[in-house]
Amino acid sequence: MRWNTLSAVLFAVALEGSVQTTNGQNITLEPGIYNSSTVSPGLPWNIYNYCNAPHVNAGHYSKPTNVSGSKLVYLNAMIRHHKRTPDNLYPTENELNPAAGWDCTNFIQENYGGGTAQVFHETDIPSWHPFLSQIWNGTCDMGQLTAGGLADAVQHGKDFWSIYHDELGFLESVNTKDILMRTSTEDRTQQVAGGLLFGFDKTMATKTFPLHAQPSNIDSIPPDYSCPNADNIRNAYQSVPAWTNHLEENAPLKARLDAMLGTAGLSAWSTWYDHFFDTFTSRTCNDHPLPCNSTGACVSEADADLVHAIGDFDYIWNTAENSTIYNQLTFGVMFQELAMNFRLFQSGGETFKMRFYVAHDGSMIRLASGLGLGKLAPLRWPALGSEMVFEVWRTPRGEDFVRAFHEGTPVPTLNWVSLESFISLLESNVPPNIFAACNDT
Ligand SMILES: *[C@@H]1O[C@H](CO)[C@@H](O)[C@H](O)[C@H]1NC(C)=O
Ligand SMILES: *[C@@H]1O[C@H](CO)[C@@H](O)[C@H](O)[C@H]1NC(C)=O
Ligand SMILES: *[C@@H]1O[C@H](CO)[C@@H](O)[C@H](O)[C@H]1NC(C)=O
Ligand SMILES: *[C@@H]1O[C@H](CO)[C@@H](O)[C@H](O)[C@H]1NC(C)=O
Ligand SMILES: *[C@@H]1O[C@H](CO)[C@@H](O)[C@H](O)[C@H]1NC(C)=O
Ligand SMILES: *[C@@H]1O[C@H](CO)[C@@H](O)[C@H](O)[C@H]1NC(C)=O
Repeated sequence: MRWNTLSAVLFAVALEGSVQTTNGQNITLEPGIYNSSTVSPGLPWNIYNYCNAPHVNAGHYSKPTNVSGSKLVYLNAMIRHHKRTPDNLYPTENELNPAAGWDCTNFIQENYGGGTAQVFHETDIPSWHPFLSQIWNGTCDMGQLTAGGLADAVQHGKDFWSIYHDELGFLESVNTKDILMRTSTEDRTQQVAGGLLFGFDKTMATKTFPLHAQPSNIDSIPPDYSCPNADNIRNAYQSVPAWTNHLEENAPLKARLDAMLGTAGLSAWSTWYDHFFDTFTSRTCNDHPLPCNSTGACVSEADADLVHAIGDFDYIWNTAENSTIYNQLTFGVMFQELAMNFRLFQSGGETFKMRFYVAHDGSMIRLASGLGLGKLAPLRWPALGSEMVFEVWRTPRGEDFVRAFHEGTPVPTLNWVSLESFISLLESNVPPNIFAACNDT
């Protein structure tokens, strides 16, 4: 989907391929699931599922056939965390939820200083709290992994292991010599990493395992390092008609949502549809209804479908003039890290068999765009559990080739490319002097 042609073309609606018209324009929604982690029978296994992206699994995996006798020798993977509570709150959040709110008592949030008591934390939302109107009832914080998200992470780990352990025998066991796990500083990425490890091997339930994270102010994963020059570049391309036209064209939708949800006049809710997208899908993916306000008006399925379509922000990370340099500035440090991993492997210095990253939507969209996936097809918004896997295979003649998977399926342009050209592609996304490029005025 490209915003600059939005009034003429948007992709096809829903599963039936129906077309919706608002305000004289046709918004066509691409097929997708937004309300369940499970794909119903009859639908393709790898359909876009915002609640739980398709990922590599033994049932839909084949070894490369390009050079017979090749062996898997190295692996990197990056996924988005699994489903969670909303990470954005309405000004009157409490009324826009069922009375019981959100329940997070169904798994224990442990976080303790080694060698001391194994404390865990619970969220209390007292009914007398003077600011209760700003949060739902129940026992959940914002942006918290749900029990359903943890279960999806465990299944993700089982499916991953079904290939790289069971089928290929490449990863022999879960151990810190072979596997490096890297996360952001958020509880949800760390808990997903724990779910994956448990999915790999259920005896991990009683074992410890290190997760590597960078300080939050310079963490390259979300990404969170400061880059004012990139912010300026993005602000500029979100101020031109290619972007602002779609906001104007959808003004009636926005007015309906604002009246119902109390978001009128708030810039975080008016400059893009991210917050509506998050607050709807976090609910529906976790079996909550779309928001209903205290006078009984509810967001309609049709309006939610429109928000889902508008929420594939392909313009910002893929098609906007200058989006390439924006991605490179904001994710260049992560591209550098990935390039260094593969260079280290190439030079014979890598000690890990696999480096596995648990990341965020903002990481996955930049990774996909930087690797050129948006040139093959418009990029859908990275779903929960969205995945990229990079395999290195060595031929009997000792040559190394990379095969990349996106959402469980080989990427056509990265299906058996030389390791050197893959590293060059990663390095092409690393601006020289990136600190200065981000900060110098
Ligand atoms: C929208 O779709 C209808 C019916 O398919 C068609 O008649 C109309 O021309 C379309 N409008 C635009 C602006 O493309
Ligand atoms: C999920 O969404 C689909 C398509 O919009 C709809 O047909 C189905 O009834 C929904 N399921 C639930 C449980 O709401
Ligand atoms: C490698 O094989 C796959 C099918 O197994 C094919 O799609 C791909 O194009 C091949 N790559 C090259 C570079 O030949
Ligand atoms: C949440 O609980 C409070 C206090 O019990 C109650 O007043 C409020 O109506 C509840 N929220 C909803 C949406 O029912
Ligand atoms: C892209 O960057 C160039 C060079 O700074 C600038 O002239 C141009 O206006 C930018 N385009 C957009 C859409 O922001
Ligand atoms: C609920 O939504 C309806 C329809 O948009 C609106 O008229 C009403 O004012 C809203 N109620 C509250 C309390 O916001």
